[in-house]
Amino acid sequence: MSFPRKKLVAGNFKMNMTSSEVAPYLEVFRQETEKLNDVDIVLIPPFTAIAKASEILGGAQKIRLGAQNMSPEAKGAYTGEISAPMLRDLFVRYVLVGHSERRRLFGETDELVRRKLVTALASELRPILCVGETLEERQAGQEKAILEGQLRGALEGLTPDQISEVIVAYEPVWAIGTGLTATPEQAQEAHLFIRDYLGKLAGTSLANKARILYGGSVTPANAKELMSQPDIDGALVGGASLDPRGFAEIVAAATPEE
Ligand code: PGA
Repeated sequence: MSFPRKKLVAGNFKMNMTSSEVAPYLEVFRQETEKLNDVDIVLIPPFTAIAKASEILGGAQKIRLGAQNMSPEAKGAYTGEISAPMLRDLFVRYVLVGHSERRRLFGETDELVRRKLVTALASELRPILCVGETLEERQAGQEKAILEGQLRGALEGLTPDQISEVIVAYEPVWAIGTGLTATPEQAQEAHLFIRDYLGKLAGTSLANKARILYGGSVTPANAKELMSQPDIDGALVGGASLDPRGFAEIVAAATPEE
């Protein structure tokens, strides 16, 4: 079976790494990934380290930058917020939207997620929309209903063209930062469900082009098996992205076999 979709591996540093720590990280990471091709790499540092990372990376095509969050507003009296134009100004290309930590710890609703998504698309920031069920929801057999609800809440009403710009990350909440990973079969089943639902919203050919990432305790040890599933088009990596060598191994696991 061939996988026509180019894989994407994104590292979400969460609230880790200062601006001064980012330079030595990048030195190692760039060296380790220098020979890796045919894979999109996105680093998602905290806001305060983005400027430094951007300055070091310059216009390098190979490693792109993302942000962990963004205001739905363009500017104004929103103390503590960061806007899309501010991110664009630092050459940020991607933005996480609706990460489960934002939903759970900071009260982000589907409605807010949707507004951020619309702003990102209008600002030429490529959104990585995070969806996923909790352990209780999975145990109650509700995971598909939850995924459908989150996708509908974020995407319904967008045009197929807009939906085609969105990258979806399936991140089961019970697998994030817990060391528990979805089995490749569980992840594949969820990814296929997501792709089918994207097909309903935007048409099958578009859904077949959409990239759907898996996130939740991805490590160098399990990355390859997960990403060789037919509907898993890459990974969103939290904890394991903080080690530049280990993260480069995960990127290597996403490159096509020679
Ligand atoms: P984890 O986090 O890899 O540490 O489980 C993934 C994420 O939250 O994106």
